[in-house]
Amino acid sequence: MQRRPLIVGNWKMNLSMARARSLARGLGRSLAGETFEVEVGVCPTFVHLSEVAHLLEGSSVRVGAQDCVAQSPGAVTGGVCASQLRELGMKWVLVGHSERRAIFGEGDDLLAAKLGAAVDAGLEVILCVGETEEQRRRGETEAVVVGQLRGALRDGPSQSPQALTLAYEPVWAIGTGRNASAADVAEVHATLRNAVAEVFDPDTAASLRILYGGSVKPSNITEYMEIEDVDGALVGGASLEVESFLGILRGV
Ligand code: PGA
Repeated sequence: MQRRPLIVGNWKMNLSMARARSLARGLGRSLAGETFEVEVGVCPTFVHLSEVAHLLEGSSVRVGAQDCVAQSPGAVTGGVCASQLRELGMKWVLVGHSERRAIFGEGDDLLAAKLGAAVDAGLEVILCVGETEEQRRRGETEAVVVGQLRGALRDGPSQSPQALTLAYEPVWAIGTGRNASAADVAEVHATLRNAVAEVFDPDTAASLRILYGGSVKPSNITEYMEIEDVDGALVGGASLEVESFLGILRGV
C-alpha cells in the first residue's frame, strides 16, 4: 500500500508574529521553487493561524492547529473549537501531544472527545502517542502507546479512520536532541499498525500514516524514512527555521 509521506512542523508556542510571518513567507517562497514527494504542513499557535494561513494561500503548505476543545461553539471561555478551526480553512488538528498530556493533564476521555469533535467538524486528526523515559525503562512502551491509541479511539470505528494520522513521539526524545533509534521506531510503528488493524481493519491499518516525532532533523530524517512503517515526521525545533525544515523535506 502506497502511503504519501507527510511532514508537519509543530511550531508549539514559539515565535513572535513577526517571526511567524517571515517563516511562513520563507517556506512559501522556497517550496514554490522545488517539488517534493511529500505532503507538507505547519501547525502555528492559535493567534498566528489566520495570518500564516493567509500567507501560505496558494502554496503547497497546509496549515493545522495544535489543539481544540471538545465542545461545540458556546460558553467555553478561552476555548477554540473544531468548527472554528475548520471555518478558518485548517486541515488538521493535533490531538494528544505529550505536552498537552503533561502540562494540561489531558487523558483518554478528553482526548477521545476532542478527536470525535474534530472529525465531526471535518478536520483531520494527528493523534500523538508516546512513552516517558521511565515507562520505557520499565518495558512498558508497547502497552503505553497502544493504550493511548485505544483510549483516544474508544468510540471506535464510528470515527472515520481516513481522517486519522498517528504520530509516535517518545516523550524523552522531544526537544532533547536524543532521537529514538531506528530499531526502536520500527518496532513501535509496527506495533501501532497492528493495533490499528485490530481497532479498525487490516486495510485501514495498511493505508494509515504513522509519523515519527522527537528531535527529527535534516541529518536523521532519511534513516527514519527508510523504515517501512514510518510515513513522515512531526517536527518541533527543526521546523522553526526555513533551512532546517527544507533540509528535512529534502531528506525524505
Ligand atoms: P522536537 O519536537 O522535534 O523539537 O523534538 C517534536 C514534537 O514535539 O512534535
